[in-house]
Amino acid sequence: MSSKTIFPAKLGGSVTVPGDKSISQRVAMLASLAAGISKVAGYLNGEDARSTLSAMEQMGAKAEFRDDALYITGVAGKLQPPDEPLNMGNSGTGTRLLAGLVAGAGIEVSMIGDASLSSRPMGRIRHPLELMGAHIGLTGQKGTLPMMICGGKLQGIGYLLPMASAQVKSCILLAGLYAEGKTTVIEPRPTRDHTEKLFQALGIPITIKGLEISIEGYGPDGPKYTARDFVVPGDFSSAAFWIVAVAARPGAELVMENVGLNPRRTALLDVMRRMGADIEVAVTEEKGDPYGTIKVRGAHLNGTVIEGDEIPNLIDELPVIAVAGALANGQTEIRDAVELRVKESDRIAEMVKNLRLFGVEVDELDDGMIVTGPANLHTPDVAINSHGDHRIAMSIAILNSFGDGAITIENTGCVDTSYPEFWQHMEQLGGKVE
Ligand code: S3P
Repeated sequence: MSSKTIFPAKLGGSVTVPGDKSISQRVAMLASLAAGISKVAGYLNGEDARSTLSAMEQMGAKAEFRDDALYITGVAGKLQPPDEPLNMGNSGTGTRLLAGLVAGAGIEVSMIGDASLSSRPMGRIRHPLELMGAHIGLTGQKGTLPMMICGGKLQGIGYLLPMASAQVKSCILLAGLYAEGKTTVIEPRPTRDHTEKLFQALGIPITIKGLEISIEGYGPDGPKYTARDFVVPGDFSSAAFWIVAVAARPGAELVMENVGLNPRRTALLDVMRRMGADIEVAVTEEKGDPYGTIKVRGAHLNGTVIEGDEIPNLIDELPVIAVAGALANGQTEIRDAVELRVKESDRIAEMVKNLRLFGVEVDELDDGMIVTGPANLHTPDVAINSHGDHRIAMSIAILNSFGDGAITIENTGCVDTSYPEFWQHMEQLGGKVE
């Protein structure tokens, strides 16, 4: 099992974060369904994006990396049944979105994944897909993987999402591509809208009225649209680690170009500004999924409250926001974030436990935590285990850049799911990693 040792360091400078994980996986799926060849620039070279792309290849798409770009030849709506189960690795997005797609396409597929993915709830997608007419078998112990999907001949439904989840929303919209009639999803709170933006870019008939999103199905023969070129911006959720590392240290400076700036992803910027951070943003591309340059200058931070509609728009940043809370003056309260308990790990329990090891005062809530800072950070002399959760591993590495000794983080291979260059970038920004 791989491990890294991180030393305290002042981080700063400039870095280019890898491609957005959510967008990369959606592009892999939608380009694979298109008629013709799509050129994809900036596709994430990480394990989650690779598992999703391989799954599409198993179902008939062709993918080739050439001259810094990915070329995907699509199947024009006609997915083929794979010979083997699709191994989705660690990817919740790949699993839940693809389940919708293959349920629509009417091919029999089974899906498996790693230990973390195999503990994550899949009942949330089984219910709407079965309402549409698919059969979903979950043979794991608690409504979990392995999953058997047998679909086809779906009917459109109207569905009120029981939780704010872009994965469940997208699963239903992708199934809706192959359904007869209209499929409508209503969200309780706005979540990331990359699927909707890509549908619009491809000319797929989608309408959005506030929190209500509808798609007119193409029917069982599948969607008819032509291939196009895609540019995947840098992943804001990867940039978030460096934003916190620099924003919380007076005197530090950071510049990152080509970072995704979709407003449904960037609520961290609002939170950091409320905490007193000095952040400048310049949009360089507004169309589709916007991106641009982020500049951060370190400052003394103060605590804040993060709750309600803000939560889905920074859901993956909450572990590193807890780190910012430990460095800020006063209380940082995170509420309404019970979904964190079913991510790659129980991120509330893991962050509370790990922050306490560093001497941080933190109260665990059912749906979040209250962190009291500024902590007199003391690097623990025991190793921290990521439990296979990339964002826990990277958040602890950022926390210990403010520590007073070296920390060993165990089980760091998971970082490759979203950000394989993370350790190298930490060194590029002045950190010391062994
Ligand atoms: C994602 C949506 C979020 C997020 C995950 C990626 C996506 O999950 O946590 O990392 O790509 O749609 P939920 O929508 O289940 O909250």
